[in-house]
Amino acid sequence: MAKFNFDEIVDRRGSDCVKWDETDVDGMLPMWVADMDFRTAPAIIEALQRRAAHGVFGYEHVPQSYYAAVVGWFARRHGWTFRPEWIIYTTGVVPAVSAVIKAVTVPGDKVLVQTPVYNCFFSSIRNNGCIIEENKLVYSDGTYSVDFEDFERRVADPSVKAFLLCNPHNPAGRVWTPDELRRMGEICLRHGVFVIADEIHCDIVMPGYKYTPFASLSDEFLANSATCTAPTKTFNIAGLQIANIIAADDTVRKKIDRAININEVCDVGPFGVVALQAAYNESEGWLDELLPYIKSNYDYLCDFFAAHMPMLKVLRLEGTYLVWVDCTALGRTSSDIISELKDGEKLWLNGGDIYGETDRPFVRINIACPRATLVDGLNRLLHYVERIVK
Ligand SMILES: Cc1ncc(COP(=O)(O)O)c(C=O)c1O
Repeated sequence: MAKFNFDEIVDRRGSDCVKWDETDVDGMLPMWVADMDFRTAPAIIEALQRRAAHGVFGYEHVPQSYYAAVVGWFARRHGWTFRPEWIIYTTGVVPAVSAVIKAVTVPGDKVLVQTPVYNCFFSSIRNNGCIIEENKLVYSDGTYSVDFEDFERRVADPSVKAFLLCNPHNPAGRVWTPDELRRMGEICLRHGVFVIADEIHCDIVMPGYKYTPFASLSDEFLANSATCTAPTKTFNIAGLQIANIIAADDTVRKKIDRAININEVCDVGPFGVVALQAAYNESEGWLDELLPYIKSNYDYLCDFFAAHMPMLKVLRLEGTYLVWVDCTALGRTSSDIISELKDGEKLWLNGGDIYGETDRPFVRINIACPRATLVDGLNRLLHYVERIVK
């Protein structure tokens, strides 16, 4: 028996959320920014209510139980055990990534990314005065893979100092296999390139796939990496601003700690600290019901495309709740598609261009919503496609 009702429509309008309130257009359906339209797990809501009832919200001391919750989650859920003293907390995974870049580079260095990739990677690299080096993922047979020859050629460039890995990958939907991660990690080790692993999507993995923490693969990888992670995507609590960096090497960790302080992102709030513990310690059952719901939304979407829009290609979704669709058949750029969908159908998706996908038009659809919302979005998309494809 299902305990949680993911079909429930929670009206988010008027809650000052980016997704629903950052538009003046009445009736706009947002399926772009990566948060979910589900209420978070009950244990998290209750823990926050208890904390709110206390009524005093001074500066936060992060307790030992917080670190134990992070360690416990990764050990239980992902089979990766690390020491609590390797954890540095901060306000988000983007601030985490940015601080690690600052710690391991100097302005003018290059940082390698695998495009298309999460757009904030580009700004984090640039904001640290570094240069973006692109290892384009190879698109074929409805999925993406790594061009390892190109990867090694770029990693071997002495000005490349770090590789910013996205595992699982947004927006390609890949959950990298141990083999793929090993090859990437070994190439980086060979050329002295530090690995920054953004693993924020680690818990949202579809049946048949398994997330492997990059740092768990070997002691050498562990020492040559920093993992940036959070419970915020998993439990839909991004607004509470809490994230962690796991860095085993003492020297590297000291540098990251310094960067976190220079960037003034070293203080977190009581709600994030409370929510993380309720998430990791008490909300696994909620996640276990969420994942099949997302999978069933994905299956529904695939059937809908196959039946009504077979000319658009839905990529395999191994992880994340962000579906990547090849819209080449529409004969338009992704930014044209996005603005025509907004103007004509009041449907807000993200276009592939912002992720550095310049070869073909893609759109990204966030399917972490009640089924009825997904159906509404798909019908809007179909209406648009029927208008332009005769
Ligand atoms: C790969 C990746 N990293 C980081 C973030 C955002 O992290 P935060 O909100 O904790 O800064 C996202 C959000 O979509 C993401 O996809």
